[in-house]
Amino acid sequence: MAAGPPSSPPYLPYGRQAIDEDDIAAVTAVLRGDWLTQGPTVTRFEHAFAEAVGARHAIACANGTAALHLACMALDLHPGDAVVVPSVTFLATANAARYCGAEVAFADVDPETGLMGRADAEAAIARAEAAGWRVRALAPVHFAGQAADLDALADLAEARGLAIIEDACHAVGSRRANRAGASIAIGACDRSAMACFSFHPVKTIAAGEGGMVTTNDDALARSLRRDVSHGMVRDPAAFQDRKAAFGADGGANPWYYEMPAPGYNYRLTDIHAALGLSQLGKLDRFVRRRADMVARYDERLAPLAPFIRHAGRSGGKPAWHLYVVLIDFAAPGRDRAAVMAALKAQGVGSQVHYIPVHHQPYYRERYGSLDLPGADGWYQACLSLPLFPAMTDGDVDRVVAALEHLIKA
Ligand SMILES: Cc1ncc(COP(=O)(O)O)c(C=O)c1O
Repeated sequence: MAAGPPSSPPYLPYGRQAIDEDDIAAVTAVLRGDWLTQGPTVTRFEHAFAEAVGARHAIACANGTAALHLACMALDLHPGDAVVVPSVTFLATANAARYCGAEVAFADVDPETGLMGRADAEAAIARAEAAGWRVRALAPVHFAGQAADLDALADLAEARGLAIIEDACHAVGSRRANRAGASIAIGACDRSAMACFSFHPVKTIAAGEGGMVTTNDDALARSLRRDVSHGMVRDPAAFQDRKAAFGADGGANPWYYEMPAPGYNYRLTDIHAALGLSQLGKLDRFVRRRADMVARYDERLAPLAPFIRHAGRSGGKPAWHLYVVLIDFAAPGRDRAAVMAALKAQGVGSQVHYIPVHHQPYYRERYGSLDLPGADGWYQACLSLPLFPAMTDGDVDRVVAALEHLIKA
């Protein structure tokens, strides 16, 4: 038989989901059942997630953006309030505050790790107060899966009477080392009001679209549950219009609900929850595989320093969402677009995480141009390389070989 054309190795995107037959069976079981939404699979996913991170409550929602918006609503943020947000993040962290009319006090980040530290947050608070805003919350981002320094930020928040909303969209399965050296799951909310997660397909576990907010605070949990479904209240103890709510026998009318203020339809469906729950069962394996690949990348890339070096590390036990390298793209012949195109030609995807959000036209128009040199330094150098559980060691080597080839060229 004649040999066919040599097949090129598969294209490696910077991230992608890992779905197997179990996941497919879990989703089809829901499709064959009675509840496509507002059913028991959402509740099971919430319980399993709360248990996995060690939080009292977990509230599932449509995506990570909805999770952040619900968290901002639960803090009752209003115009005149402000939230401190690191500029190196996805748009959603900042936009969630704006959905409530609150201002975004952009903070700088460490140009080696992409993380907001205490001094960065303090500088942002000072700028916000000079602008006349009332700072209400810090929203640290556990960038790439590595933990921000929550103890330092929580000390600051406590001293200033601020809440912390952790943007843990990158950090499903990550653990941080606290000051006493204990390993604590991100999402345990031991030093924050709430933590928000995303189950977008490039994240550590996938639900298609999906999000979760965890908290240990009963009142915040009630608010999150109310606003994830139109602001509807069904707890008789909370009814305001007693006459309409209760029948002659003193029992709550079975059809009755109240809406103290409008919420949203941010519900997760049971179809998505089935996939999320099934994936949650594989989280430890995914995290281990990601850690192995990160170790291999580190080792194989070491000889390419100082041209290419991996981004700085914050400690703890990250569930690596991204593998980011820092490259001096300002050096002659190392234009980033050309590097990305050359990698793509060799079947290697890459991405930039992120364009600092304060540079977005909407925010530039609102706040003018801000001087955040750490965020700009990060942006000028960062490049995310492929990292997902189905990659083989050979795939990692192929990415490194492609970079080596570029450097030699
Ligand atoms: C840091 C960060 N925050 C928030 C989000 C929003 O999550 P979702 O895409 O699920 O709405 C993302 C997702 O890309 C993210 O990376």
